[in-house]
Amino acid sequence: MRILSGIQPSGKLHIGNYFGMMRPALELQEQGEAFLFIANYHALTTVDNPAELRRGTLDVALDFLACGLDPGRTVFFRQSDVPEVTELTWLLSIVTPMGLLERCHSYKDKLARGIKPNHGLFAYPVLMAADILAYQSHLVPVGRDQKQHVEVTRDIALKFNNQYGPVFTIPDVSIRESVAVVPGVDGQKMSKSYDNTIEIFGEEKATRTRIMRMVTDSKTVEEAKDPAESTLYALYALFVAEAEREAMAGRYRAGGLGYGQVKKELFAVMWEHFAPMRARRAELAKDPGYVESVLTDGAARARAEARKTVDAARRAVGVV
Ligand code: ADP
Ligand code: TRP
Repeated sequence: MRILSGIQPSGKLHIGNYFGMMRPALELQEQGEAFLFIANYHALTTVDNPAELRRGTLDVALDFLACGLDPGRTVFFRQSDVPEVTELTWLLSIVTPMGLLERCHSYKDKLARGIKPNHGLFAYPVLMAADILAYQSHLVPVGRDQKQHVEVTRDIALKFNNQYGPVFTIPDVSIRESVAVVPGVDGQKMSKSYDNTIEIFGEEKATRTRIMRMVTDSKTVEEAKDPAESTLYALYALFVAEAEREAMAGRYRAGGLGYGQVKKELFAVMWEHFAPMRARRAELAKDPGYVESVLTDGAARARAEARKTVDAARRAVGVV
């Protein structure tokens, strides 16, 4: 089974990215052949500063390696190092109905937030389909906001296969329901675009302050509280085992527990959870040559796969 996912280098890795996509993808490394990549071409739709894009790309590479990506087992690369993917994007464009792209929530959300649409933003899902289909991926682990893009990919692949013959594997989306939408400090979906994230490799003081300033309701310490309504509880639950989760829920319901206390405990479990990864990241950051060699090697392996698919697609449409 081939597992594939990508992440844009367009901001600092946060708890939502980690639990929604990164950890499930890294766990799947054990179950099949994983392809993970840094979607720097996608990031170009929102990042227009070259230095920022370069820095973001190195950051994501360090993040993944620090969090347990095993380059011996997993093919890890930069999207832009595989030009076959952009070649495939065109071949997929010709079977992609406009209406399919017009219906994409992510595109509509970006317009609603005032981003000026260009063709790249509109065609974003076709490039994503090429990412997935180029490697004949079976399973795509993502957070819920990316589900529709994988469905679009399936539609495009089916349409191509119907019209030109069976070139592409039809991928399935894999969503870890328990962490499909991690809430941010304001209770909305955690997202870079909402400025409500908790970075996983942020600086200690800033991270503590971020958590201590989280908005809660105005219940007093004495009052009983409902864990199901608490963003703090939802975040705490991500880091601890069942028994500790239950214990915390019990303390909420019993009353006598203030939100300030929960915040302290949330910071403590989070800081400890990422401690080994933080240390590993600091080590890796001293060796950019190693990181680059992992990505270069990954790109060569990825390209070999993508070339086979693109050649088959070219033959199928009649351009060879
Ligand atoms: P952001 O919304 O911060 O811009 P991205 O769109 O770059 O994040 O998402 C990268 C990956 O992380 C995607 O697979 C996405 O589904 C997942 N993800 C992002 N935010 C969350 C969240 N709050 N909960 C669960 N998964 C998330
Ligand atoms: N669009 C995805 C995101 O913003 C990133 C991405 C690009 C991706 N290509 C992909 C994810 C292919 C999974 C598979 O999170």
